[in-house]
Amino acid sequence: MRQLLPFLLLLLLSLARPAAAAQPPGRGVENFNKGWKFYLGDEAQAKEAGFNDAGWRPLTLPHDWSIEGRFDEKNPAKPEGGGLPTGIGWYRKTFTAKATKNQRVYIEFDGVYQQSEVWLNGQLLGRRPNGYISFRYELTRHLRPNGQPNVLAVRVDNSAQPNSRWYSGSGIYRNVRLVTTSAIAVDHWGTFVSTMRLAPVTKELSPIGIDIQVSNAFDRSILGNIETVILDAQGRKVARDLKREVSLSSGNANSFGQLLYVKQPQLWSVQRPYLYRAQTRIIVGGKVWDEYETTFGIRTFAFDAQTGFSLNGQPLKILGVNQHHDLGALGAAFNLRAAERQLQLLQQMGCNAIRMSHNPPAPELLDLCDRMGFLVMDEAFDMWQKKKNGKDYHQDFKAWHRRDLQDMVRRDRNHPSIIVWSIGNEIREQFDSTGVRLTKELVATVKQLDSTRPVTSALTEQEPEKNFISQAGVLDILSFNYKHEGYPKLPQSFPGKPFLATEIAAAFETRGHYDLPSDSVRVWPLDGKTKLTTGNADFTASSYDNARPYWGSTHEPAWLAVKRSPFIAGTFVWSGFDYLGEPLPYPWPARSSYFGLIDLAGFPKDAYYLYQSEWTDKPVLHLLPHWNWRAGQTVDVWAYYSQADEVELLLNGKSLGTKKKSADQLHVMWRVPYAPGTLQAVSRKAGKTVLTRTIKTAGAPARIELTADRSALRADGLDLSFVTVRVLDAQGNLVPDAANQVKFDLSGPASIAGVDNGYQASLEPFKATERKAYNGQCLAIVQTSEQAGTITLKASADGLQPATITLKSGASSSASTKNNPATSVATGN
Ligand code: GAL
Repeated sequence: MRQLLPFLLLLLLSLARPAAAAQPPGRGVENFNKGWKFYLGDEAQAKEAGFNDAGWRPLTLPHDWSIEGRFDEKNPAKPEGGGLPTGIGWYRKTFTAKATKNQRVYIEFDGVYQQSEVWLNGQLLGRRPNGYISFRYELTRHLRPNGQPNVLAVRVDNSAQPNSRWYSGSGIYRNVRLVTTSAIAVDHWGTFVSTMRLAPVTKELSPIGIDIQVSNAFDRSILGNIETVILDAQGRKVARDLKREVSLSSGNANSFGQLLYVKQPQLWSVQRPYLYRAQTRIIVGGKVWDEYETTFGIRTFAFDAQTGFSLNGQPLKILGVNQHHDLGALGAAFNLRAAERQLQLLQQMGCNAIRMSHNPPAPELLDLCDRMGFLVMDEAFDMWQKKKNGKDYHQDFKAWHRRDLQDMVRRDRNHPSIIVWSIGNEIREQFDSTGVRLTKELVATVKQLDSTRPVTSALTEQEPEKNFISQAGVLDILSFNYKHEGYPKLPQSFPGKPFLATEIAAAFETRGHYDLPSDSVRVWPLDGKTKLTTGNADFTASSYDNARPYWGSTHEPAWLAVKRSPFIAGTFVWSGFDYLGEPLPYPWPARSSYFGLIDLAGFPKDAYYLYQSEWTDKPVLHLLPHWNWRAGQTVDVWAYYSQADEVELLLNGKSLGTKKKSADQLHVMWRVPYAPGTLQAVSRKAGKTVLTRTIKTAGAPARIELTADRSALRADGLDLSFVTVRVLDAQGNLVPDAANQVKFDLSGPASIAGVDNGYQASLEPFKATERKAYNGQCLAIVQTSEQAGTITLKASADGLQPATITLKSGASSSASTKNNPATSVATGN
């Protein structure tokens, strides 16, 4: 041993010394969205650094070229895909970046739809078929020396159509970052913080396990320290762990575990989404080579076969909606404020959960769910090997599914909002014995990376002997879409299993449209074989919650079935918002979905208030329909209400009676012979008025009213104000069928990012400065520039008094999660 000592010492010394003793470069994350050039079409030479892109269109990402196009029935994505153009597009960006010997440079894409190929200076970095997955490439060795310009070129191929059952969008539609790290650094998605794996979380103490993956780009092992500090929401240090003298071998196979304890942990919940941050430092030779931050939350949850879901030991029904990735008039191009607005509207309805149907979302949407207190089902696929559309992901499934699924879990597993992984939606292998093998493989893939969360798959087949996905026996939770009549049998059919209702309802509604009588339900279409021959000539569906497809249901019975089944942990209504594509039940020109509780423009439909009355504690009283009918018509008047015993309806001051909800009906209804005038509903509790709602017969359109959801904006080129246009009569009543063409004039440092009116069969473009009102309303989305200043939006229409609204764009707005609305006054000019 004595003879060996000097040798061992030498070895240790050589291990301990990194390649260069200079100050390590550390980590830099640069937003890489600006300064791109775009060309719609294919151009074989565009990957070459020297290619001349001077004539290409300059733009800032995220970008969706489909949403800029014109609707056309002949577009290859078909009406199901939204009826907008797809094709091939190229993006190029010229930039300078230096990489020292101790540095690594990466490009990170959050999502490119689809079949992307990326080149740096003419060198292919890789291709990625899946349009919803995040990925990165290393640039280091292809970068040009001495600060010479580099060229990134991205080819996006969405030409093979149809490849989706809904609107996908086309392009680099999520954020892009340039990340530089030291040669010794935490790997990509290289931390996993978990609070439920090791020991129970108590009021006094929460164990925090953190797995850390470290990469070492040097060609030999290096000794280093790994320090993790946990900070609370105020930035106070609440725990620390230091691992000394660990050997970091060359490559990225260095995994370390740390165990920290947070005393008196603040739990993450939907009411109080408390977040901690773990700061991990890699220290070599006394210097910090990397500092990497992971946001996380401390919470426990459980799914129980009898009692459903509980969060932090408290029972909690999952009250969720399904959401697609598009943002209405903005298309698939991700915008943080647009996503936040969607969540705010859903939260005001009482929604506490989102199913990311049916693919991984933008990472910032998960951040929002963490911050705002939403529970999340993160979903990987809409198909496996068996196709739903000829050119869809089934073609790439074999080669890519493992990697795609691993990347989803690696990227997303630190989000406290995520409480369940879904490996697929209505997968065809459910009906085929190959489903058993694939389910086992996919579940094992998830569990290898995260054993703290249950895995499910959204199924349709409730007979165990016919369902090969459930037969695999590895799903922790069984999730079913529709068929709520079958719920009572589920506990016997699948003993011991917890359940989720991953889709309910799928009822059709067009905002502001009502088909009488309200108590006859339209089943459009009647079954899988019959084509829809009935339906409305103007492609509308009734907002009385009385239209549905044969596989779906109207809202009330579906929600009641979930409410009455304590063994069902919760539900996700199909769907929260209308989305582009899947325009069931109608053919062209219908081009967006009818299922939403909120229309594509963000205006709630009536069924929104049904859920609000059931899912929140606040008093609700919502009266429908409008009060402009033909003389002599019999009109059904509905009210959704809560926190009251009864509702009285009055027409022109005369009582039409007081009604109470029954056990099976979540609204009250009066059948009223129409007479113009004032309809009033009064809800009362123990004889005392709780709320009053009034709707008046409107006269001719006279003026425009503008309301901005936020009037103090950030001058960051991203912030949005959603400005609602309402067409009013001379007395200030909404004109319920107004269809005026509204023109927008904008002045100041901003632009109009999109316009909409929520009508599912409108073929007007979303990128425009005018929009027809639909049932009295339309929307303009104002986007700031990077210049501060006053923004003025004027809306005018022939024969109407115009309106003007003023917005302020400045260095910082009031916190974006708080609304700061503004309403216009008619300007009279
Ligand atoms: C389901 C499907 C959803 C959507 C919905 C419409 O079967 O999972 O993606 O298509 O039907 O009702």
